[in-house]
Amino acid sequence: MSTTAQIGVTGLAVMGRNLARNFARNGYTVALHNRTAQRTHDLVEQFGHEGDFVATEKPEDFVAALERPRRLMIMVKAGEPTDAVIEEFAPLLEPGDMIIDGGNAHFADTRRRERTLRERGIHFVGTGISGGEEGALHGPSIMPGGSAESYTSLGPMLEKISAKAKDGSPCVTHVGPDGAGHFVKMVHNGIEYADMQLIGEAYQLLREVGGCSPAQIAEIFRTWNTGRLDSYLIEITAEVLSHVDAATGRPFVDVVADQAEQKGTGRWTVQIALDLGVPVSGIAEAVFARSLSGHADLRRASRGLAGPKASALTKSEAAAFADRVEQALYASKIVSYTQGFHEIAVGSAEYGWDIDLGAVSAIWRAGCIIRAAFLDRIRAAYDARPDLPSLLSDDTFAQEIAAAQDDWREVLVAATRQGVPAPGFAAALAYYDALRAERLPAALTQGQRDFFGAHTYRRVDREGSFHTLWGGDRSEVTA
Ligand code: 6PG
Repeated sequence: MSTTAQIGVTGLAVMGRNLARNFARNGYTVALHNRTAQRTHDLVEQFGHEGDFVATEKPEDFVAALERPRRLMIMVKAGEPTDAVIEEFAPLLEPGDMIIDGGNAHFADTRRRERTLRERGIHFVGTGISGGEEGALHGPSIMPGGSAESYTSLGPMLEKISAKAKDGSPCVTHVGPDGAGHFVKMVHNGIEYADMQLIGEAYQLLREVGGCSPAQIAEIFRTWNTGRLDSYLIEITAEVLSHVDAATGRPFVDVVADQAEQKGTGRWTVQIALDLGVPVSGIAEAVFARSLSGHADLRRASRGLAGPKASALTKSEAAAFADRVEQALYASKIVSYTQGFHEIAVGSAEYGWDIDLGAVSAIWRAGCIIRAAFLDRIRAAYDARPDLPSLLSDDTFAQEIAAAQDDWREVLVAATRQGVPAPGFAAALAYYDALRAERLPAALTQGQRDFFGAHTYRRVDREGSFHTLWGGDRSEVTA
């Protein structure tokens, strides 16, 4: 067995297979391995002409085929299967070698694996990869964590196979140590959920309040895609909405069961945000909206509940409605990215990752599911001011929201009047209004906590902690 492969991929389901092909198409020799050897042979048979592959069956042969330091990529299911594969290969590796996990792993698992393998001298590179099957083959957005040393060896290869932004720069950066890459991928997916939910709400409002058909809404989305909402998700929304079911002749969207599934990365984004104390309310509403949709029995049982007696929009109102929804969608989108980037900033500080938010927005500009023209502007905002406290503090975004807010509010008024749920739009607006509020009812919350539990409070006019003797003469004491 010659040791010529620059990279090895084990786990040749569709993502692994396409990444292996992408490396090979870019001139790298790729060693292949899969639990069932048939898959390996199938790949070589079908795509062997695309580049140099070294098909192997035994783990020892797979490892022996790799040049040193070895770069071994595992593309198996997150969770236990990943641990099992690591345990299978790690004993065959030597100090300096790299294991790259390209699955959607939980960053806490990645931190644990990185620590364990570091003790054995092996670099563990938890890597977020976005873009689905097509992206894996033609150029994904890649979010590697792990040591700086591993990036020196691996980075140029990842840069080669990654998507390229319009300015030609590769959509990959060394995100930060240990779990940083998987953390950023997790938040990417949280934002993906929020984007999809907001688009869903826009669709539902255009249909139920605006009275448009799916085909008409597809056209509206096509128009939006030529403006500031230009993005992959808007583009595919138009495709899905204009698709007609061959069997029934009905709009495809009307024959699909309205119960959204999830594999869990959006949910993790919210769980971790709760732990970190970061308000990602828009992302949370997106996760809850998927959960609610899945409660078929509960929904059936609630069908008889009363709705509002609302009058439909007048013709001229309906005509203006689409523009208003565009404003609401755009403003809400700014808020969900604001929340996502806030979570990355807090996670980065918590775990000592030193993540460059401008670089993260730059590598999301192409290849990934949330790719959008808008990310160029986020990058510009962070480049201009790397310590930006929030995207909403950027002048351009603040001005755009200011210009959108009347329509944003009107859309929510219409949604509420007509009884159409728009939890994503509403949560985004509430976040915006809460952040800009002079005073929040949190002062009252503190008073209540002090009343029933002597939890103490701080005052606006003096330093220190205080407690009021609620059960006594209600005088105040220093806590
Ligand atoms: C990507 C996607 C990808 C995937 C997730 C989310 O970036 O390429 O985010 O990772 O689609 O599995 O899927 P769920 O909606 O099932 O959670």
